[in-house]
Amino acid sequence: MKKIIKNGTIVTATDTFQADILVKNGVIHLIGENLVDQDAEIVDVNGCYVFPGGIDPHTHLEMPFGGTVTKDDFETGTIAAAFGGTTTVIDFCLTNKGEPLQNGIKTWHAKSKEKAVIDYGFHLMIGEVNEAVLNELPSIIENEGITSFKVFMAYKNVLQADDETLFQTLVTAKKLGALVMVHAENGDVIDYLVKKALKEGKTDPIYHALTRPQEIEGEATGRAATFTGLANSQLYVVHVSCADAARKIAEARENGVDVWGETCPQYLVLDQSYLEKPNFEGAKYVWSPPLREKWNQDVLWNALKTGQLQTVGSDQCSFDFKGQKDLGKDDFSKIPNGGPIIEDRLSILFSEGVKKGRISLNQFVDITSTRIAKLFGLYPKKGTIAVGVDADIVIFDPSVERTISAETHHMAVDYSAFEGMKVTGEPISVLSRGEFVIKNKQFVGKLGAGQYLKRAKYNEQLQVQENKSVPI
Ligand code: URP
Ligand code: ZN
Ligand code: ZN
Ligand code: ZN
Repeated sequence: MKKIIKNGTIVTATDTFQADILVKNGVIHLIGENLVDQDAEIVDVNGCYVFPGGIDPHTHLEMPFGGTVTKDDFETGTIAAAFGGTTTVIDFCLTNKGEPLQNGIKTWHAKSKEKAVIDYGFHLMIGEVNEAVLNELPSIIENEGITSFKVFMAYKNVLQADDETLFQTLVTAKKLGALVMVHAENGDVIDYLVKKALKEGKTDPIYHALTRPQEIEGEATGRAATFTGLANSQLYVVHVSCADAARKIAEARENGVDVWGETCPQYLVLDQSYLEKPNFEGAKYVWSPPLREKWNQDVLWNALKTGQLQTVGSDQCSFDFKGQKDLGKDDFSKIPNGGPIIEDRLSILFSEGVKKGRISLNQFVDITSTRIAKLFGLYPKKGTIAVGVDADIVIFDPSVERTISAETHHMAVDYSAFEGMKVTGEPISVLSRGEFVIKNKQFVGKLGAGQYLKRAKYNEQLQVQENKSVPI
């Protein structure tokens, strides 16, 4: 059904203006003043902001990891994402060495197809580069539209790839038109430090952070950036947690290397002291890279403000405190890494970022949506408000004050990483391709309504569906 969204302030990565939006056939058909259409449902948004739907470039839904499986799947995870104002997720498809990459892709399609309530795409993990992998990749790009590869430089003996694999992936990605993503930490040094700590009887959650110092995140980030320059390729560093890594990205960019950096809400508002909470509660705050000393937060905010870091992803990777995190009760290295963030990404960035004057309103849209769409081959179909693009729209009330809590969140886990945090601003209604998924804070979407997104190659654009000159 057609809809006219009225009385809102439209915010894009570049502009803020008052206008109505006519949505028809799932796309934005017209933007203008005082739009009229007899057949359209009128959606009066009463002075709220109207943002392009958030795009989360970094999720791990129903992912086997750390001896268990992440609690939120494509059903609970995408519902929670929608409540939080996200209308697209790009999830990491894991692969196993020695097996066709297609096996991993089939598994991920099976996990998502009947469940996702918003649109989704996949990044593909590369654990090895050999003839079989090189033979498979061109068709994965062309037919699956998977145009980003993920290489882990950490998690030794599990997901970690060696430098040769990373370099070959960068060379191959350049040839094929893909963006390489890295988890940048030096897994070998971490492995040594973890074993040493455990031998010394240091088993508490805080040692997770103390065995992953920021210098080795900086080192791995710099190494990946150096390889990228050598290969004349393109790199996206996920979950940048600290000053050392942010500085390496800034340096590479100053030298003309095509490197991009993502940080996450947890690194912007939480710090290392959370790992010292009593009664093993520190386990709730175990991420890799770890939460850092508080002073790093200013560096990360500043990097977002000045464009040295360009995006914020959630790194949604949720585990229950009881029954999952406690796998590491006697050994911090067995605590499953990751946390529930998918629902809170926009709220935290708006409240802590825009409201506190650290980033502008338009930067907020760029960092959570537009830039991500551009980097991952979804623009302009996703990531902006313009005629002809998908009507993925968030109606956001900037004045609501509320407290984040596991009692009220929609993720499937038994705790919130931001329990008790007061935020200003909240998504009220969310549309995916013109249909309400969230309406007046109620879920009204449909399981399986989310579509799989084939993405354009790096630096290419998707075609939008409508001819922009078509009248009403
Ligand atoms: O601790 C984290 N970040 N868990 C998710 C997996 C990853 O490394 O992104
Ligand atoms: Zn139309
Ligand atoms: Zn990672
Ligand atoms: Zn991750």
